[in-house]
Amino acid sequence: MANKKQKNGKASKVRAAAKKSARKVVKLASSTKANGNGLPKPSSKPYGQAGLALQGVRILDFTHVQSGPTCTQLLAYMGADVIKVERPGAGDITRGQLRDVPNADSLYFTMLNGTKRSITIDSKHPKGMDILNRLIKICDVLVENFAPGALDRMGLTWEYVHKLNPRMIVASVKGFGPGPYEDCKVYENVAQCAGGAASTTGFREGPPLVTGAQIGDSGTGLHLALGIVSALYQRNRTGRGQKVLCAMQDGVLNLARVKLRDQQRLAHGPLTEYSQFGEGVPFGKAVPRAGNDSGGGQPAWLLKCKGWESDPDAYIYFITQAPVWGAICDLIGEPTWKTDPDYATPKARLPRLKKIFARIEDWTMTKTKFEVMDICNAVDIPVGPILSMKEIAEDESLRKTGTVVEVDHPTRGKYLTVGNPIKLSDSPAKVERSPLLGEHTDEVLSKVLGYSASQIAEIKASGAITAPDKSKAAA
Ligand code: COA
Repeated sequence: MANKKQKNGKASKVRAAAKKSARKVVKLASSTKANGNGLPKPSSKPYGQAGLALQGVRILDFTHVQSGPTCTQLLAYMGADVIKVERPGAGDITRGQLRDVPNADSLYFTMLNGTKRSITIDSKHPKGMDILNRLIKICDVLVENFAPGALDRMGLTWEYVHKLNPRMIVASVKGFGPGPYEDCKVYENVAQCAGGAASTTGFREGPPLVTGAQIGDSGTGLHLALGIVSALYQRNRTGRGQKVLCAMQDGVLNLARVKLRDQQRLAHGPLTEYSQFGEGVPFGKAVPRAGNDSGGGQPAWLLKCKGWESDPDAYIYFITQAPVWGAICDLIGEPTWKTDPDYATPKARLPRLKKIFARIEDWTMTKTKFEVMDICNAVDIPVGPILSMKEIAEDESLRKTGTVVEVDHPTRGKYLTVGNPIKLSDSPAKVERSPLLGEHTDEVLSKVLGYSASQIAEIKASGAITAPDKSKAAA
């Protein structure tokens, strides 16, 4: 055990070191103060003309299906050069899935792979691996969402990639993080179920429900994009890359965190804002499905509007936000509810929500969802019309903001895609059509990697970038 003298000695050394580092911080701050922590001077170019946010970032894109492609598409929209590597002759499996136009890439593929370049490489061919080695050396990020172990089986282990290019960030989507399920293959709805979303979605009397929004795939791709951008930012300081992992189960749980909140609240009594409470149905041990309850502190429900008998989307989501309770009472013709002790306070209303929403619905059924929207918003009542995909596709305002974009494709013609939902004031989104399979193989080999025409011819003859010729194989 250290004696008192030794301890004091150590303490004074620690104090001295702390003083020294504090002096260093002050010096650093004063030396960089004039120019914002070493950043370049603010650009004098007009906003929107100083290049794109991720300009200069090159992505080696090994993604397929939905989760990974969502991530790299967003990075491409932000200005990264995304080079998608696909298997010769086959490509991303979604090119041929859910096809609506014969012999053209499906919308499944085209809507997830815009603004990218496509190069075909057989990663299991020695010459294919040579090309990949060159790509690894000049790219900033490798993104993949293969089944667990597939990248390693290709020979592209973290150690291998890191040795070739210590600055490379290797970003992966997997179904599960380390643990009992880490080797499982996972698709969207597996993640929705394992991440807690499905058990809390649907109606209490019915089975668990998956949702149409792809929170497992696209949600995780979005998480991965944030991880990549953060790793790029840290690399500015450290000079080295790192691994970025997003498990789909984790991504879904992150999006379903309010239900984990409610799980813990259950230990302290019933969840009074769930309509189940007002209906006198006891709670079990786990968070129940809450139908169209709001999930927040303001009671809400989905209500029919005029035309609901024939239009499946003639509904409005109606939130009875406490501060506008008086305005709601006036609108629906129940002014006495403003002062009636059974209705005047949020607490008094909780056990009566079913009756209250039935009364509001009597009113909404006399109006179209857009009329309800106009009338309610004029007095600050938050409501949401149920918009069909048809209505969204035809919505002019979404086109104007670039959230819905029409692009032209050489084999399928014009199609709609979702543009960049994240708007940056100095970086206009770059939303372009998806590439044909291998469309940029020659371009990347010659212009990015510097192969000569004769070298490219040799690579082509080797079969490393082209599908095996079936007629030759049969002969
Ligand atoms: N050249 C040669 N081989 C290639 C290649 C190329 N350019 N690109 C891919 N391959 C091979 C891989 O090496 C691998 O082969 P191996 O298993 O023999 O090692 C295979 O193609 C890819 O396989 P895998 O990822 O297992 O595809 P799959 O169609 O069987 O499974 C998923 C699809 C989505 C279930 C699986 O990839 C997965 O679980 N991914 C992680 C979770 C995820 O992202 N899921 C959401 C998808 S939207």
